[in-house]
Amino acid sequence: MAKGLDIGTMNIICAEKDGEDVVFMKQRNAFMNLESSDLTKNMLDTSKVLYIEEEDGISLLGEDAFRFATIFEKEARRPMSHGIISPREKEAIPIMKLIVERVLGNPKSPKEVLYISTPAGPVDVDIDVLYHKKTMEALTKGLNYDTHVIDEGLAVIYSELSDYNFTGLGISVGAGMTNVTLAYLASPLMSFSVSRGGDWIDEQVAKSTGLPKEHVTATKEKISKLSKQVQIGSPEGALNVYYDALMTYVIGHINRRLGEITPPKVAFPCAIAGGSSLPQGFFEMFEKKLREAKFKIEVSKIVHAKDPLNAVARGCLIAARTFEEGKHPSKAKQSTQQQSSSKTTQKKE
Ligand SMILES: Nc1ncnc2c1ncn2[C@@H]1O[C@H](COP(=O)(O)OP(=O)(O)O)[C@@H](O)[C@H]1O
Ligand SMILES: [Mg+2]
Repeated sequence: MAKGLDIGTMNIICAEKDGEDVVFMKQRNAFMNLESSDLTKNMLDTSKVLYIEEEDGISLLGEDAFRFATIFEKEARRPMSHGIISPREKEAIPIMKLIVERVLGNPKSPKEVLYISTPAGPVDVDIDVLYHKKTMEALTKGLNYDTHVIDEGLAVIYSELSDYNFTGLGISVGAGMTNVTLAYLASPLMSFSVSRGGDWIDEQVAKSTGLPKEHVTATKEKISKLSKQVQIGSPEGALNVYYDALMTYVIGHINRRLGEITPPKVAFPCAIAGGSSLPQGFFEMFEKKLREAKFKIEVSKIVHAKDPLNAVARGCLIAARTFEEGKHPSKAKQSTQQQSSSKTTQKKE
């Protein structure tokens, strides 16, 4: 048995096989402090809420933090920001340990193979990802997993480009970051991130329209389609502007980084994933911009992940199973194809 784990700024998602199905377990990467008197420990225990006790109260974690934040009209806090453990949240590590434990569960066998995703180094901010990567590796090894770490962009390639022997360009547009990897036969030729994603869009739209950020996030997740035909001055109009700006920014950095490497002269398909790629019209807009960019590499087919929110976790699972079977990626095509045709179940605790 093997598992994959996507540790994202907004969502922590575990993927594992259950017979022919791939099962995903998801928790929000969030917490919220409550006064001890707001809810009794007994109530929390009976309703199986994930929490930790602290000196000055209780912290609710994961999905429950989000649920109760609405009830108590408080803001849910995030242990991570811009793709890594937030240096501003001193409780971040113990909180993430509990969320990860809940999502992963115990290993099915001692030293079960686990692949986790990590952001690649950002090219636009002075942030080092090593501490985050090593902490998450140690945390999951502490749970008795045989942990291996891969770049988030490579996980997208594992998930979506098995038909191309894991050669291609993988792009994950998440909450805190956008991650990009160019790989040839599952070996990264170039991996980087930019510190812009869904959160950046929310912040910019909130700043330009004067609306609260939470309101913008909710509007964004509800809009059915990205379209240029919107009312001028509406939040939808501002969202459109910043989605466009984010894509132009990411493509500009891909172009610049491609200029620094000498890739083999082959065609590279491209796969786009991540929660921020969910709105209808996002993929078409990104595809058009990628075609117009005229990269140094030949970009063949451009695909949108079948399940954009779960693609990174799924890719980590495929990498773990490939490793476990001791197969070279180019020979692992058969087993991953079986996975891609199997039913996918979404389970929530
Ligand atoms: N239906 C939707 N439409 C637009 N954005 C969405 C939707 N659902 C989620 N998102 C955005 O996707 C991002 C989370 O995606 P995810 O890939 O899980 O990020 P991360 O891996 O960084 O946690 C958030 O910015 C969230 O607002
Ligand atoms: Mg993610």
